[in-house]
Amino acid sequence: MVVQESLGSIRERALAELNAADDLPEIERWERAYLGARGEVTLFLRSLGSLPTEERPAAGRAANALKVELAAAHEGRRRGLAAADLERRLAGDAVDVTLPGRAPLVGTAHPVSRMIDELSEIFALMGFQTVFGPEVETGRYNFDLLNIPSDHPARDVWDTIQVETSGAEIVLRTHTSPMQARTMEATEPPVRVVVPGRAYRYEAQDASHEWMFHQLEGLAVDERITMADLKGVLRELARQLFGPERRIRFRCDFFPFVEPGVDFAVDCAICGGKGCRVCKQTGWLEMGGAGMVHPKVLGGVGYDPARYSGFAFGLGIERLIMMRDGVDDVRAFAGNDLRFLRQFAGA
Ligand code: PHE
Repeated sequence: MVVQESLGSIRERALAELNAADDLPEIERWERAYLGARGEVTLFLRSLGSLPTEERPAAGRAANALKVELAAAHEGRRRGLAAADLERRLAGDAVDVTLPGRAPLVGTAHPVSRMIDELSEIFALMGFQTVFGPEVETGRYNFDLLNIPSDHPARDVWDTIQVETSGAEIVLRTHTSPMQARTMEATEPPVRVVVPGRAYRYEAQDASHEWMFHQLEGLAVDERITMADLKGVLRELARQLFGPERRIRFRCDFFPFVEPGVDFAVDCAICGGKGCRVCKQTGWLEMGGAGMVHPKVLGGVGYDPARYSGFAFGLGIERLIMMRDGVDDVRAFAGNDLRFLRQFAGA
């Protein structure tokens, strides 16, 4: 009788506590307290041996029945709480599909990359292949093969960023012209390539000078290539970039790897050549240097200068964008100011 009553009170207390437990950790604690290895029901079952023999079967049955009942109640409560918990979390995570979306930030190509693509396309239509070359160069390609001897001022360390101080002449290329020699060494004529890419100069920076900038080199070598071909190609370039009425101006200039050498300009599309702010009142926009490939350069790469001739040109890519889109500071291109870059994002 005593035994039955105490089981009954364990049962009541256990069920009351189970109902009051309202999270999973509490339920686990409850299970340990009643049904675990040292739980009250377990201990009760273990103590059956100390009862008088005739009471043991009834007490054992009652205790086992309680154990089964509590285990079932525990499982029911645990499932209920787990489901409620899941529902609560789902409600918290719910997505309101009617909210307006957040527009993702979509990047675009840099204006220099866009100009490179545009130039490659224009030159592809004229039969030029776009190739790329190393930015770290040897003195042999950056200077020697371009007929720039060791005593030429352009080799002065003040213009060139040296990579190697041990004596070997390894430099950041000061122009894209080394790819003239590399291309000719690798192929037989006819050659028609353009080479866009970075160039580096040890230089004080200002609105029109950057220590890193982009050039596009052009090279055509074949039998009977003349300066008229050069002028035709550059005029076509100017028309594609600046409009159909453009004219090209050549003026004598000196580059060791061309003979004759010129600088070339396009008449200002904004004022039609009369003079304005963009062309600094000159009527002309300077695009770059050019000329007929020097016989020494042709010979240096194993071409026969008596049979082959060619033209080469180099233009500054940032400069082209500045002229066409009215950018007045070259430093803006590498400055990473989104307000500048976003202006090129359209189209
Ligand atoms: N490499 C020259 C420079 O950087 C430009 C140039 C290229 C001139 C090809 C003539 C021919 O100034």
